[in-house]
Amino acid sequence: MAAESKTFESRYELHQDEDSLPIPLRQLLKEAKQALLNAHAPYSQFNVGAAVLLASGKIVWGSNQENMAYPSGLCAERVAFFSVGAQFPNQKIIAVAISVKANQFLVDEPLAPCGACRQSMLEFELKQGDPITIVMQGETGSIAVLESVKSLLPFYFLEERLKG
Ligand code: THU
Repeated sequence: MAAESKTFESRYELHQDEDSLPIPLRQLLKEAKQALLNAHAPYSQFNVGAAVLLASGKIVWGSNQENMAYPSGLCAERVAFFSVGAQFPNQKIIAVAISVKANQFLVDEPLAPCGACRQSMLEFELKQGDPITIVMQGETGSIAVLESVKSLLPFYFLEERLKG
C-alpha cells in the first residue's frame, strides 16, 4: 500500500524590527538582552538570554550557564523555565523572549531554541493549557514571533506514550 504523505505547518510572524512588536513583547525582548549579560559562556563565547513573562507581570530571566564538564551546562531557556517552575509553580507563562550575543561574530538572525529546550518548554505549555508566545532575535536583525511552543515542535513526545 502506498504511504500517505503528511505535512506539518508552522506559522510565524517575521518583524523587520521591534517597532511593529506589541509593547509587552518589545519590553520582554529588551529584558532577554539584559539577561544574556549574566551568561556564563567561557567555552562557546555564545551568550544567550531568555526572559519569561508570567501572568502576574513578573519577568524571570535565564541565561546559558556552561560548565567545564560540558554536558553539565544548561541553555538559557531551560534555566529560565525551570526557575519559573521552582519559584512560581502556579503562575501561567504568557511569553518568552530569546536573544543572543556571540563574542566573536554578529548573529543577525533569530535564535531558535534547541530540541531539548523545545521539549522542556512544551511541558510547561501542556501543563498550563494555554499557549506560550515565543519571540526570537539574534543580536540584531529580524524578529520571529511564534504563537506557541507546539508550533516550534510538531510531532512532539507526549506523556500518554509512556502509559501504553
Ligand atoms: N544555547 C542556549 O542557551 N540556548 C539555545 O537555544 C541554544 C544554545 C547555549 C548552550 C551553550 O551554552 C551555547 O549556547 C552554545 O551552544
